[in-house]
Amino acid sequence: MAVNIVVMAAGKGTRMKSTLPKVLHRLAGRPLLQHVLDAAGTLGATHAGANTVLIVGHGAEAVEAVVAGQRVRCVRQAPQLGTGHAVQQALPALDDRHATTLILNGDVPLIRPATAAALVDACGGERLALLTVELADPSGYGRIVRDAGGQRVLGIVEHKDASVDERAIREVYTGMMAAPTAALRRWVAALRNDNAQREYYLTDIVAMAVAEGVPVVAQPVADETEVLGVNSPLQLAELERRLQRRQAEALMDAGVRLADPARFDLRGALHCGPDVEIDVGVVFEGTVTLGAGVRIGAHCVIRDADIAAGAVIHPFCHIEGAAVGPGALVGPYARLRPGAELGAEVHIGNFVEVKNSRLADGAKANHLAYLGDATVGARVNYGAGSITANYDGANKHRTVIGDDVHIGSNCVLVAPVTLGVGATVGGGSTITEDVPAGTLAVARGRQRVIEGWTRPVKAKR
Ligand code: UD1
Ligand code: MG
Repeated sequence: MAVNIVVMAAGKGTRMKSTLPKVLHRLAGRPLLQHVLDAAGTLGATHAGANTVLIVGHGAEAVEAVVAGQRVRCVRQAPQLGTGHAVQQALPALDDRHATTLILNGDVPLIRPATAAALVDACGGERLALLTVELADPSGYGRIVRDAGGQRVLGIVEHKDASVDERAIREVYTGMMAAPTAALRRWVAALRNDNAQREYYLTDIVAMAVAEGVPVVAQPVADETEVLGVNSPLQLAELERRLQRRQAEALMDAGVRLADPARFDLRGALHCGPDVEIDVGVVFEGTVTLGAGVRIGAHCVIRDADIAAGAVIHPFCHIEGAAVGPGALVGPYARLRPGAELGAEVHIGNFVEVKNSRLADGAKANHLAYLGDATVGARVNYGAGSITANYDGANKHRTVIGDDVHIGSNCVLVAPVTLGVGATVGGGSTITEDVPAGTLAVARGRQRVIEGWTRPVKAKR
C-alpha cells in the first residue's frame, strides 16, 4: 500500500538564532531534513512507493537546493499560518490513489522508519493515527484529551489554549500522524484560526474525526528519542549525542571495541572487520572501511578512507581520501590527503604529509616529510625533512622513485624527476636531474674546513 508523505519544514526556527534554515542544520553530518527524508525513503520502499511532499517556507531556496535531485516535491507556504495551513498547501500534491497520508516534521530527525510504518498501518486508510508520547514535562506540547473513562481520544488541545486541568495531561502529540487522504482533504479545508495563536492548527482535525465517527488511534512511541525535535543549538547537540550513542551501540554490538561510546563521532558510514579498536575522540566522516584488527589511536579525523587489516593509525592523524595498506603504521601526527595510497607495511611517521602519491609495500617516510604527486617504490627509505617540490608555481609534476631507493635527510626532489632502482641520494641534496639506478647522487655545497680560524670575541668597553 503506497502512501503520501508530507514533511513540514516551513517554520522559522527562531531559537536557532542562525541564518541557516533550521532543517538544514547538521546532525551526524547530514541536514536534519535529510534524516527525515531518508526515513521517508525507507518507508516508501517497504510500502510500495511513496509520494513525498515537502512544505518549505523560511529559507525556501536553500532548502529546495539541498533536496534538488531527490524524489521529493516541494510546495511553498508563505506566509506561514500554522501547521494546518501548511498541510493545506500540500493538498494539491497529494495522490488520491494512496489511501493514507503520513505527516512528518522536518526538525524531528530520529524517527525510525519502522515507527512511521506502524503509524501508517494503524491508519490503514480509514483511521486517524496519532503518534504520542508521555512526558514528565509536557509544557509547550499539544495534549491528548480523552473521555472520562480515559479510553476514547476526543481531541488535541494546544498548550496555549489548554485549561489548567488539560495542562496536567502528560500524554502529548508528537507532531506526527497518519490520516485517511480523502478525509484529510475535507478536514484541513474546514480548519479555522479562532484560537490563542490565530493559527490554523492541524491538530484540530482530531475533533473533526471524532465528530464524524472516524476512529482515532493514539499510538505511543517506545523510544522518546524518535520524537525529539530540534529548536535550539543545545537541543541539536543533545540529539547529536543520542544519535552517536545509537551508532556506537550498533557498532559495539557488531564487535567493534570503542574505548568510550560517549567520545565517538560518526558522520557517515563506517564498515568494520572483526577486532577493530577505536580510541577516544575519533571523528569518522563520509565512508570509511576498517579491516580486521585495525587500531585507531585517539583524536584522529578520518574521512572517506579505506584502512586495510592490521594497520595501526597512531593518535592525532588526519586522513582524507586515502587508502592504507595491510599492516601499515601511520602517525602520530600524520596527514594523508586525497590520493594517498599506501601499500602493505608502509610506515608514515610524525609530521609527514602524503598527497596523490602511491607508496609501494614496505616504503618508509618516518619524520617531517612531504610526498606529493609521487610514485614511490617498494622498501624506499625517505629521509627526515625531505620533500618533493611538485609545484613550479603553475603546474604540478610527478616524482618517480624506484624500488629500494634511499633518500637522505633534508633533500628536495624537484619534479619532474626520476630516481632509478636502488639509487641513493646524499642528505641535503637538491635533485633537479634524473638519478640512474644504483648510483649515488650528491647535490650540495662541498664541505670546506678552514684551519686555524679563530672565533670573533666580544669587544671590551
Ligand atoms: C506542534 C503541534 C503540537 C505538538 C508539537 C510537537 C500543532 C498546532 N501543534 O506544535 O500539538 O505537540 O507540534 O512538536 O500542530 N510548520 C510549517 N508551517 C507553519 C507552522 C509550522 O511548516 O506555518 C512546521 C514547522 O517547521 C515544524 C512543524 O510544522 O516542522 C511544527 O511546527 P511548530 O511551530 O514547531 O509546532 P508546535 O507549536 O511545536
Ligand atoms: Mg515545535
